[in-house]
Amino acid sequence: MDKIIIANWKSNPKTLKEAQNIFNGSLNLSKNIKNKKIIVCPPFLFSFLGKNLKLKNILLGAQSVFPSVSNSYTGEVFVEMLKDMNVSYVIVGHSERRSLGESDEYINNQIKTVLKNKLNIVFCIGEKNRDQNADFLSFIKNQIIEGLKNVTRNQLKNIVVAYEPVWAIGKDAIREATDEEFIEIKIYIRKILSDLFGPKSASSVRVIYGGSVNSNNAKKLIDAGADGLLVGRDSLDIKKFEAILKSF
Ligand code: PGA
Repeated sequence: MDKIIIANWKSNPKTLKEAQNIFNGSLNLSKNIKNKKIIVCPPFLFSFLGKNLKLKNILLGAQSVFPSVSNSYTGEVFVEMLKDMNVSYVIVGHSERRSLGESDEYINNQIKTVLKNKLNIVFCIGEKNRDQNADFLSFIKNQIIEGLKNVTRNQLKNIVVAYEPVWAIGKDAIREATDEEFIEIKIYIRKILSDLFGPKSASSVRVIYGGSVNSNNAKKLIDAGADGLLVGRDSLDIKKFEAILKSF
């Protein structure tokens, strides 16, 4: 399976010109990679940059979606709009959106809406902090169970699970996760998926890592078994993004 590298631009950059530069830079990088796919996830407003994408190793993603397909909701974006824009992956459950009030139920509705419309999901999970008693493990388990309620075995192949411990994300990160921590969590996530959906379906799910990914830790995490990486800050700087892609 190709490794997938998600470029999560979050609410950046501030201008269309910068967005065009980063997009074109990512596009050029994609021409020289093998066994990897870049999924560029700009803010909704800049999605049109990827509308006519036809290159092999780069796809367009979105950072969220409204979990309904009819009626009117001021300020929201429907999955049909994303589809028309050539989006193929949708990030849901990111901790920065959970902190705005998106519940497990809301995330579950987003997942079902996206899968019904035949797009792929990047399902973010992760604990706020690691406690001595390892209660964070049941926290993660609960996020998975609630997020994937009523998802079918068959739909599972369209889901990527992104382990993103909140303490490792963004400029306030305490530290990145170690490769050992990632291996443990990946095994744990697979076990939960296997209990829920059976081992065969569970094995079709990619488990990727996100949180302060950079060119110094990318290879370690990939070697530890990450099926891909979710990159925030360093996806906005083409030199840094290139260094990540070249590191493994
Ligand atoms: P970061 O963000 O790489 O800037 O830590 C990752 C994410 O939140 O998706």
